[in-house]
Order: sequence, then C-alpha cells, then structure tokens
Amino acid sequence: MEYSKKVVLITGASSGIGRAVAIALSQYNNSIVITARRNDLLESAAGEIRENGSECMPYAGDALDPAHADRVVSEMINKFGRIDIAILNIGQGPPSNTLTAPREKILHCMRTNYDTMINFYYPLMQQMKQQKTRCMIAHMNSQATYFGIPMQGDYTAAKSAARIFLETARMELKHFGYNHIVIQTIHPGFVDTAASRGDGIPAPNQISEEKTAEYVLKGIKKEMRENIFPPGMKFATKFGKISPYWLLTKVLLSQTPEKY
Ligand SMILES: NC(=O)c1ccc[n+]([C@@H]2O[C@H](COP(=O)([O-])OP(=O)(O)OC[C@H]3O[C@@H](n4cnc5c(N)ncnc54)[C@H](OP(=O)(O)O)[C@@H]3O)[C@@H](O)[C@H]2O)c1
Repeated sequence: MEYSKKVVLITGASSGIGRAVAIALSQYNNSIVITARRNDLLESAAGEIRENGSECMPYAGDALDPAHADRVVSEMINKFGRIDIAILNIGQGPPSNTLTAPREKILHCMRTNYDTMINFYYPLMQQMKQQKTRCMIAHMNSQATYFGIPMQGDYTAAKSAARIFLETARMELKHFGYNHIVIQTIHPGFVDTAASRGDGIPAPNQISEEKTAEYVLKGIKKEMRENIFPPGMKFATKFGKISPYWLLTKVLLSQTPEKY
C-alpha cells in the first residue's frame, strides 16, 4: 500500500518506535493522528510532523479506556471521512519474573499490550468494513511472541495473544469477503528506545528507532502479513521456532542474567 496522502492513525506515538514511524510518514504529505498519554511529548511530535509537511492531530488519552479509542476513531471519521492506515503501536515489556512478579504487574502487562490494541481494533474494524478503498490495521508486535522467553513471560504471553487474535481476524475477513482490509503484524527484534535502554534484558542485534521506521514503511508498502526484522534476529527467531524445547531452553538461559 502506498503511504502518501493517506489518513493515518498511530497509537503510542509520544516516544520510541511510534514517534519515529510518525516522523517517517510525515515526509509523505499524510494526515496523521497520533495518540498517547503524555500530551507535551505528543505536541512536540506534532510540531515536527507539521514541519515535515503533513497535517497532524495529536490526541492525548489513556488507551486502557475504550471510550478514548472510540472518540479518536469517530473524530477521525468526522474530519477525514475515512482511515487508511492504523498502526496500533502501544505496548511495554519491562523485565519480569514469573516466579516473583505481583499479579497486578502481570495483568497490567496484558492490558497494556493486548487490551489497548483491542480497544482501538474494535471501532476501526466497524469503520473499515464500511469503507470501499484499501485500508490496513498494523499491530506493533515483537519477535517475543512465538515462544516463552525468560524475563519476558507476561510480555510474550500478551504479544502472542494479540498475534493469534489478528491471525484469526485475517482469516475471517477473507471468509466474509472483506478483501480490502489488510491486517499486518510487525515484529521488530531489539530496538534502542528510551523504554528498553538499560532494562537489563539482553538485546543482541539491536537497531535504532529510525531504522525500525524504515522497516515499518517497507512492510506497509509491500502489505506484508508479518513484517519480521532485522534479518539476523529473524533468522534466530526462526531457529527458536523449530528448535526442540530442551535446546531452546538451553540457548535462552545461556543469555539470561543470573539474578533479576
Ligand atoms: N523497544 C524494543 O526493543 C521493542 C521491540 C519489539 C517490539 N516493541 C514494541 O514496540 C512498541 C513501542 O515500544 P517502544 O520501545 O517504542 O516504547 P515506548 O517509547 O514506551 O512506546 C510506547 C508508547 O505507548 C504509549 N502508551 C503506553 N501505555 C499507554 C496507554 N495506556 N495509553 C496510551 N498510550 C500508551 C506511550 O506513551 P505515553 O506514556 O505518553 O502514554 C508510548 O508512546 C511496543 O508495542 C513494544 O512492545 C519494542
């Protein structure tokens, strides 16, 4: 799908990957709506987007609240009449230990990575089903989605729930004949963002936010079903997916700090 002159929604665009993708897309004369809770950071991203020649509407709010997502989508429809590309990017995966993490922390991880996506997915899908032109919902997943990873138990569980939900949505769109809606999952490896920097989780093959944005744009253009990058991590993940459990455990534990 082309990514110029489009109506684009990016959630979680106040920092990190979401912000970098918004800035990258702002160079192509788009109308971009960005959301997150930190309004000052959203306003600063909006300024940069406008300087690059795109229109921007920042929309501060908490995506754990379904009413926030409903409002953002309905205001976009009122203003633009359609949504072409929605990048649902909100998520966080601080280190966690399945043996000691409090229940609330584990559940909060699921809410942040899964519930926020569903809160936006629902009104977007109701809207996109009525549109006639090609449109896309892309979800910022992770390569920590295919199997359990020490220090990331709650995060991998939430990301795999999101991946499997969207895999089903893709099948059902085909089944019910909505062939104009593309569902994409984006699976970066390790990205150097303020949120992940210094979190103690080993980060081999780490790439920058800007490089990540380049990969994301390439995936949109090619309408990839799963956009998995960078190539080194993609290969390692593929190896992990086909490895026997004993070998996967051995390799992952060899990278895991002794105490956390
Ligand atoms: N960094 C990595 O290595 C990496 C690797 C693979 C995948 N990812 C995924 O990439 C995405 C972005 O991660 P990042 O590293 O760029 O982290 P980040 O800078 O913390 O980005 C998360 C964004 O989501 C927003 N957000 C969080 N909770 C929210 C809520 N309840 N309501 C509204 N907005 C909320 C944050 O803004 P506010 O705090 O202002 O609300 C922020 O803009 C996540 O889905 C993450 O899982 C990251």
